[in-house]
Amino acid sequence: MKVLLTGHTGFKGSWFSLMLKERGYLLAGLSDQFLVDSLYKVASLNQLYEEEYFVDIRDREAVENSISSYKPDLVFHFAAQPLVRDSYSRPHETFDVNVTGTVNVLEAVRKYDNSLPTLIVTTDKVYKNFGKKEGYVEEDELGGSDPYSASKSAADIVAQSYISSFKLNRTAIVRAGNVIGGGDWSKDRLVPDLIRSLIAQVPAVIRFPDATRPWQHVLDCLSGYLLLSDRLIHGECSGVWNFGPTHAQSREKVSQVVELVLAEWGGKSSWIRDSTPNTMEAHLLDLDSSKARRELHWADVLDFEKSIRMTVDYYKRVIAGEQPIRVMYEQLSEYQNIRNSIPGFEEIS
Ligand SMILES: NC(=O)c1ccc[n+]([C@@H]2O[C@H](COP(=O)([O-])OP(=O)(O)OC[C@H]3O[C@@H](n4cnc5c(N)ncnc54)[C@H](O)[C@@H]3O)[C@@H](O)[C@H]2O)c1
Repeated sequence: MKVLLTGHTGFKGSWFSLMLKERGYLLAGLSDQFLVDSLYKVASLNQLYEEEYFVDIRDREAVENSISSYKPDLVFHFAAQPLVRDSYSRPHETFDVNVTGTVNVLEAVRKYDNSLPTLIVTTDKVYKNFGKKEGYVEEDELGGSDPYSASKSAADIVAQSYISSFKLNRTAIVRAGNVIGGGDWSKDRLVPDLIRSLIAQVPAVIRFPDATRPWQHVLDCLSGYLLLSDRLIHGECSGVWNFGPTHAQSREKVSQVVELVLAEWGGKSSWIRDSTPNTMEAHLLDLDSSKARRELHWADVLDFEKSIRMTVDYYKRVIAGEQPIRVMYEQLSEYQNIRNSIPGFEEIS
């Protein structure tokens, strides 16, 4: 199986590369760059790839050439400008990368083979947030009050239109929430910001400590993508899928994440509330993932505490000198063991 993964040098792309490689898949990656301190770089994940295309997703011809020359059996589109705060300072670029980039991937797929199994990653933030308590379902209205959310909603609608207009009957859209996990060094994300403060031994400055988010371990989220791709290969399950956390205790406040990370890290550490005015971020948006549970036998298996523990464990081990890729493989194997020991769940290997 030959897989092309866009955004392979990003946080989710890095963990997903490992999961795909574990299955014996052959990999090609498409990204514009990699950051020197990224998980992709520190874990030398380039070794997992037969081909890498360092091109801009906005370059239509380059995207089409990558697909037509690699000839994948399966495509995952992760590449995006994914940061809400950056979307306020760079709205045009955010719309361009997230919307035009998605059009380019779908256009390339349509031209190459419209039955090519393809998974388009959007987000829980695509839903119009009207304060629904019981969780948003796939049919709920889309919206987006900040540029990032609006751009992903637009990308989601683009993908829906390609599925119906061009009979991309093996294409699916996936919507998941805030992921955490080892090795994320993105700026303006809670856990990476915290770890940087801990390393620098300065108090962490926390925005929106009282906000609640649907926290989810990155491996739980990616296991859903993987299960869905298995179905797409067999010509099933195109359309839209939520992959949100189902554990009640995953809906924790930012301050609780902070406290737990500090406790797991150990030693003397503290945090303070950010008093500078901040750009708006959506309040809690809960996903109803019963469709994925019912039809794919998927659910997240790591609860809030375990997700934080595994995340902090990654950083501590790597800072203590262990090889990042080794820690990743060990955590992936631990995750698979937990998942496969729960009866009734689809096995992930
Ligand atoms: N991390 C989260 O909590 C989260 C939550 C919901 C949805 N998502 C979505 O998941 C996907 C992956 O997110 P992530 O956290 O791994 O992000 P990331 O910032 O770590 O990685 C982004 C990837 O996209 C690539 N990219 C960015 N601009 C590009 C361009 N112009 N051309 C080509 N490649 C480009 C980067 O090189 C990188 O490989 C995104 O679509 C994001 O919107 C992430």
